[in-house]
Amino acid sequence: MAAVAERVFSGVQPTGNLHLGNYLGAIKRFVELQERFDCIYCVVDLHAITVWQEPEELKRHTREVTAAFIACGIDPKKHIVFNQSQVSGHAELAWIFNCVARMGWLNRMTQFKEKAGKDRENVSVGLFAYPDLMAADILLYRATHVPVGEDQKQHLELTRDIAQKFNTDFGPSLSGLGFGEGYFPLTEPVIAGPATRVMSLRDGSKKMSKSDASDFSRINLTDDAEAIAGKVRRAKTDPEPLPSEEAGLKERPEADNLVGIYAALLDGTKQSVLDQFGGGQFSTFKGALVDLAVEKLSPIAGEMKRLMADVSAIDAILADGADRARVIADKTIADVKDIVGMVRR
Ligand code: TYM
Repeated sequence: MAAVAERVFSGVQPTGNLHLGNYLGAIKRFVELQERFDCIYCVVDLHAITVWQEPEELKRHTREVTAAFIACGIDPKKHIVFNQSQVSGHAELAWIFNCVARMGWLNRMTQFKEKAGKDRENVSVGLFAYPDLMAADILLYRATHVPVGEDQKQHLELTRDIAQKFNTDFGPSLSGLGFGEGYFPLTEPVIAGPATRVMSLRDGSKKMSKSDASDFSRINLTDDAEAIAGKVRRAKTDPEPLPSEEAGLKERPEADNLVGIYAALLDGTKQSVLDQFGGGQFSTFKGALVDLAVEKLSPIAGEMKRLMADVSAIDAILADGADRARVIADKTIADVKDIVGMVRR
């Protein structure tokens, strides 16, 4: 395989209600990885429209995710922040991947099955082909590392399968063009830490989600201190005191979730949290969790509000990021067209 530089890519959908799961599972990781890698962070508006979005809301949410990235500590000057639809290479490469991926592969995607439910005949074609577009996002930049929450693991496995099949199918063409044995890297998922799957505060068996009807199920990044306190205090727990050992969190999904959230907010481990709170009642622990969550999240909410007051500054960041992303993307698209055998000028 030709040597490919290490690069991070990840994306977040502008579908509203960015929550603590998005932050701990993804955006906080994005911030950390900036130290070690060149990073590209994308607001994936093409993915968002696989389900209906009100046009004005889509714009607002796109800017809101951008504001969240920056408020959380992503540096759009050193790295690249942009929205997907401004770089046409995403859609172009996705089409080519639609012709590489097999129906059977996409039929196995659990997220599609969950989202489509019993209404498969009525969902958009885009929702079915969603993982091909995601593979295109990543491979357009030949990214090597992708930080995501646990729920995206299967999509990243598919991305590797697509890269592998492309490299194999076009093997002779690749060597003829001097690309060596492989053009696309086999991307590594970065799924790490104590909160890769943050659960609903109302039901420890359900993922914390933007689309949950109950706002009490999640802590939104825009929640103020009062809202955070109310939601944590009402979070579902069980009647037992907290265990002293991590093994004691098994079969106690709500306790496990709150301890994981605390650990992730503090950059610690679940065991370090239990060393402090094990044997105690939930009421004490919840009080400490409220304080910690408010301390960590309030500055983010404040900064998001400040940034959202100047829409043209946000749009300028996205335009500048898109210009820089396009330089990389255009090169990949030109290479891919040569590899596939498309005549170009
Ligand atoms: P999205 O917008 O649903 O979520 C953004 C990121 O947040 C993570 N996440 C969670 N992590 C922990 N606990 C949770 N409850 C939780 N809920 C969400 C997601 O895993 C994700 O990392 N398909 C992607 C967007 C995407 C993308 C990409 C990601 C499009 N192209 C390319 C990586 C690379 C999605 O729907 O994320």
